[in-house]
Amino acid sequence: MIIIEKKRVKDSEVSIGSLMLPDQANLLGNVHGGEVMKMMDNTAGIVARRHSRHVVVTARVDELEFHEPIHIGNLVTCCGRLTFVGKSSMEVKVVVKVEDLTKEDEPKVALTAYFTMVAIDDFGNPTIVPKLNLETDYEEEAFKEGEERYLNYKNKRKKGK
Ligand SMILES: CC(C)(COP(=O)(O)OP(=O)(O)OC[C@H]1O[C@@H](n2cnc3c(N)ncnc32)[C@H](O)[C@@H]1OP(=O)(O)O)[C@@H](O)C(=O)NCCC(=O)NCCS
Repeated sequence: MIIIEKKRVKDSEVSIGSLMLPDQANLLGNVHGGEVMKMMDNTAGIVARRHSRHVVVTARVDELEFHEPIHIGNLVTCCGRLTFVGKSSMEVKVVVKVEDLTKEDEPKVALTAYFTMVAIDDFGNPTIVPKLNLETDYEEEAFKEGEERYLNYKNKRKKGK
């Protein structure tokens, strides 16, 4: 029997900052959504890889929302943390904050989404990942919500939707 240790949410969480440059934006200076989505995907990938220590692939993105525009010269910070872990799948919440470096204003939440990442073994198959050791009420709540999305997906798949 293989026993896999539990890991804490904070063991894999990550924050990545990047300055938005002209080649990432349209002629009006607004950063393309796809640029930020790529950063979010990378962030989710790092979290999932840190948790599982395996190569991971993106299987799904839920509830992607754009709350605030992002402009050239803004500092964008992508924060990723695990919400839920199944057998080989891991759900990572990614929150993107945007900061106008010319102002004293607090960074604003610009985008949020839930990425489902799947750990892959050396033969290209999904593989078991460590369970989560939940330490706070917030983590318990996020886990329940993630589990709902997971079961929702499983039910739809069973029904062939
Ligand atoms: C993700 C992938 C490996 C899953 O393969 P699969 O044959 O469906 O494998 P399984 O049925 O065993 O599912 C494995 C896990 O992934 C989850 N999963 C698979 N597809 C999913 C989806 N669309 N949404 C949410 N979860 C999904 C399953 O629920 C399961 O989770 P669990 O092990 O925690 O219970 C496969 O669909 C794949 O390679 N997809 C393409 C991934 C990719 O290339 N991403 C980059 C896109 S550019």
